[in-house]
Amino acid sequence: MILTGKAKLAGVMGWPVSHSRSPRLHGYWLRDYGIDGAYLPLSVAPENFTDALRALPLLGFSGTNVTVPHKEAALAAVDIVDENAQRIGAVNTIVVQEDGRLAGSNTDGFGFVENLAASASDWAADRPVVVLGAGGASRAIIVALIDIGVPEIRICNRTESRAAALADEFGGPCQVVPWAQRGSCQDDAGLLVNTTTLGMTGEAPLEIALERLPDDAVVTDLVYVPLMTPLLRAAAERGLRVVDGLGMLLHQARPGFAAWFGREPEVTYALRQFVIEDL
Ligand code: ATR
Repeated sequence: MILTGKAKLAGVMGWPVSHSRSPRLHGYWLRDYGIDGAYLPLSVAPENFTDALRALPLLGFSGTNVTVPHKEAALAAVDIVDENAQRIGAVNTIVVQEDGRLAGSNTDGFGFVENLAASASDWAADRPVVVLGAGGASRAIIVALIDIGVPEIRICNRTESRAAALADEFGGPCQVVPWAQRGSCQDDAGLLVNTTTLGMTGEAPLEIALERLPDDAVVTDLVYVPLMTPLLRAAAERGLRVVDGLGMLLHQARPGFAAWFGREPEVTYALRQFVIEDL
């Protein structure tokens, strides 16, 4: 696509940002839809983050995604934060308003739920969910699960105090499970989610017994490098349905693209293959 002087601009701010798949993903949609626009990797050091964000309206940007390590700083730096991002405590999508103010939201939970709906639409949301991990990713998943009304969320984390802090904060269906019981807390669960970094290329695999999960349960992993993590492999070998983490990345990108470039984008098989080619 040859850009005109009217091209719409967006990007992703990260440090480092070179690992981000978002430019490839948004670039695919821009090309596919023939949109006069660009989505750039924006390598921004933490000490420059607020200045860089403030420069977006001055440069005529429509907005930006924000990734590691800026998501929490973005919450404090934007002018308007929606309720969902406030509860999660992090912003990943920023839209420049007509008056130049920066509006922050968080689309990670949306991406998670939409990916499940697209890949395992009949997963049992009326049954308990086991959530492994209690970091930033876990917060977004827990908020999303509360909002769709799951009856019980069993939060299981190596550092139990972090799981307890989340259960205290979010209350409702949240329960704390000791890390040692990750294999024995799965009775009646409809879904098991890994939000830890275990299983990622270069990290140790997630060691967990899956015998207690009901046969119709779904197992999903936020890790998508590799696509088939040791957890997903073990679950598939046990005959369980598995949903990989790439879909969440693709779906969480939709609201930002629609806001910046004016078109609701679709997550298609071809897009998925295009992103997988570069994983
Ligand atoms: P993110 O924002 O991506 O969730 P994070 O806040 O660093 O990242 O959280 C990483 C998660 O992976 C945490 O739940 C962490 O457990 P701790 O809270 O005990 O640190 C989990 N994790 C990382 N390495 C782990 C390991 N070797 N064993 C078990 N859990 C691990």
